[in-house]
Amino acid sequence: MSRIASFVAIGLLASAVSALPSSERWTKRISNNTEMIYSFEDLPHSTDLQWTPCYDRYHCANLEVPLDYAEPDVGTTIVAFIRQKAANSTGQDVIFNPGGPGGSGIEYILSGGGDQLVNFTGGKYDVVSFDPRGVNNSGIALTCFPDNPEARDAYYASLQTSLPSLNEQYYQAVALGQWCMEANNDTFAKYAGTSAVVQDMMHFTELQAALDGVKKPEEAEIWYIGGSYGTVIGHTLAAMYPDRIGRIVVDANVNSEDHYNGLKKTAIEDADDCYGWFFDLCYKAGLEKCAFAGKSGSASDIKKRFDNLLAQLEKAPVVLNDTHIDPLLSRGPQIVTKDRVLTVGFRTLYRPFTEFAYLAKGLAGLEKNNATAWIAVEQELNQPGNPGPFNYTTIAMQEVLTFVTAVDAAGRSPIKNVDDYIKVAGEVERLSVYAGKGYASTNVLITAGLNMTPPKSQRFLGFKKTKTKTPIFFMNPSADPITPIASAKHMLQFFEGSVLLEQNSVGHSVTSGSSLCTLGHLRRYLNNATLPKAGTVCETDTKPLVDSPSLQKRSLPFVPMHLQR
Ligand SMILES: *[C@@H]1O[C@H](CO)[C@@H](O)[C@H](O)[C@H]1NC(C)=O
Ligand SMILES: *[C@@H]1O[C@H](CO)[C@@H](O)[C@H](O)[C@H]1NC(C)=O
Ligand SMILES: *[C@@H]1O[C@H](CO)[C@@H](O)[C@H](O)[C@H]1NC(C)=O
Ligand SMILES: *[C@@H]1O[C@H](CO)[C@@H](O)[C@H](O)[C@H]1NC(C)=O
Ligand SMILES: *[C@@H]1O[C@H](CO)[C@@H](O)[C@H](O)[C@H]1NC(C)=O
Ligand SMILES: *[C@@H]1O[C@H](CO)[C@@H](O)[C@H](O)[C@H]1NC(C)=O
Ligand SMILES: *[C@@H]1O[C@H](CO)[C@@H](O)[C@H](O)[C@H]1NC(C)=O
Ligand SMILES: *[C@@H]1O[C@H](CO)[C@@H](O)[C@H](O)[C@H]1NC(C)=O
Ligand SMILES: *[C@@H]1O[C@H](CO)[C@@H](O)[C@H](O)[C@H]1NC(C)=O
Repeated sequence: MSRIASFVAIGLLASAVSALPSSERWTKRISNNTEMIYSFEDLPHSTDLQWTPCYDRYHCANLEVPLDYAEPDVGTTIVAFIRQKAANSTGQDVIFNPGGPGGSGIEYILSGGGDQLVNFTGGKYDVVSFDPRGVNNSGIALTCFPDNPEARDAYYASLQTSLPSLNEQYYQAVALGQWCMEANNDTFAKYAGTSAVVQDMMHFTELQAALDGVKKPEEAEIWYIGGSYGTVIGHTLAAMYPDRIGRIVVDANVNSEDHYNGLKKTAIEDADDCYGWFFDLCYKAGLEKCAFAGKSGSASDIKKRFDNLLAQLEKAPVVLNDTHIDPLLSRGPQIVTKDRVLTVGFRTLYRPFTEFAYLAKGLAGLEKNNATAWIAVEQELNQPGNPGPFNYTTIAMQEVLTFVTAVDAAGRSPIKNVDDYIKVAGEVERLSVYAGKGYASTNVLITAGLNMTPPKSQRFLGFKKTKTKTPIFFMNPSADPITPIASAKHMLQFFEGSVLLEQNSVGHSVTSGSSLCTLGHLRRYLNNATLPKAGTVCETDTKPLVDSPSLQKRSLPFVPMHLQR
């Protein structure tokens, strides 16, 4: 793996290694251009870090980086950074990524995520986030329809919401993949893989160290927190720069080995277990707090009613026939199918504390053949301000997910033809009867159709036993619909001395529930690298459904790993 140290040294020369008082460091950190900016477009870009006050209470920088650190002649692109200073800052940055691929770190901070992160980390660390290559404010356009957003929107609008046959799914994916490859024959899309993002993070860290003059750039340590796809970045960072790791926290772990091999077959293996939590909590909460509790005398009876309902819907979807309710009917006559219920159901598994109650309400309506009730729930879940964890708000984000996943897989997908796909789809469905079908038809097919290869210096060569300078702190809920705890255990074994904290909860990422126990361990780790004992399990402070949902403070979701049809 090519290193970037030489590149950094050219621009910066060795800086004096001396500790500076915090106030002086801050004066040096902020560029003399003090005019407040409110758009990254108004921010000049430079090959050194120039922090400018932005959006009232942050600092922003547009960093110009080489597309390929090993081949500077290829050209450059821009990576947008933002910093939120902690009230009691020690001057230590923690770099954060909110997942995806496709999640905007800038938007995450600007929408209040920075306050939450500063609080979670104990109010002592400055949070730095960024838009990775290909995302929103940063460079490299990742799209199958360059300069033609109308064609893109028309394509995605033409996709049916119900699933076509497996054969059709496969050939549609191949068609899209070939289209995308052709459209990107001479674009920079292949420079947007995860290892390039990791190189950008290390480059940033070295530039910041040079600016601070506290540590030699080539010795600067990186502190990082990432969730969901952000764990792929974390695992990759640890594998590429083991002796530069100050802290790494990875929450809601992807099986990154599978990610790089082009097929994350087991990503949904906890999904049925998540539904199991729903049935159980619904039974315990009772009818008052869980509308689907009905007269059921046990969790398994609730499951039976759920299964019966799905079987009914498969035979005869519930038809929306109530033309008087507006604006629900703005989309005209509709049917509620089994697939539709499972798509929405899957999304609620990401944030049970706030969304299980909606699932229960919708199911209770459907049990009475009331399609209006179900559609009302879908709309409530998608209110602005509650985009939900399972909602790529723009097609642009879905395209980023597609490209980054494909560039990382670099043509290694084991699905080479339609028979391979049918076999894998069957296996995925056996792993989760409720979520397998939807997952197979979307994420599984990305790398089957789209074959992209990153440049040599950005090809990730795989995980092996690694000893990082500081051990890694893994966290995962016991039941996570898209990043199962088995993936965390799998990745843990590559990193000597690292520890996995299990949070006994359901949802995507430990932040889907609040736990003072988890938070305490996180802060101790950041403070002096103290890890919990292996096998530590934390409880959440409250439970979904059982404890009144209105008591739950909603934390900002990580961006999902799942494509939406
Ligand atoms: C700001 O201006 C001062 C005085 O001109 C200069 O010494 C300093 O290097 C400048 N700082 C930055 C970050 O450009
Ligand atoms: C984090 O927020 C909680 C709740 O608002 C507050 O009680 C706590 O003091 C905050 N902690 C830090 C370190 O800011
Ligand atoms: C900062 O530290 C002081 C002294 O320890 C403490 O009283 C204060 O609550 C802290 N502020 C925040 C926002 O954490
Ligand atoms: C890009 O980020 C800006 C904030 O910097 C935000 O206002 C805008 O909605 C984002 N655009 C997309 C397409 O995500
Ligand atoms: C991509 O472009 C190169 C020349 O720029 C050409 O040789 C090659 O055939 C093209 N490939 C595709 C798939 O269009
Ligand atoms: C609408 O459908 C439900 C369930 O199928 C049925 O009970 C009801 O009578 C229908 N209403 C109208 C107005 O057709
Ligand atoms: C169906 O659900 C809607 C929305 O919850 C409700 O307003 C309506 O009264 C229900 N219809 C029946 C027949 O129960
Ligand atoms: C996602 O959320 C936005 C509101 O934030 C909503 O307008 C949009 O319809 C949602 N998309 C999907 C596919 O649910
Ligand atoms: C870390 O700090 C805690 C108290 O803040 C202390 O008890 C513990 O011994 C420290 N551990 C190390 C390894 O320094």
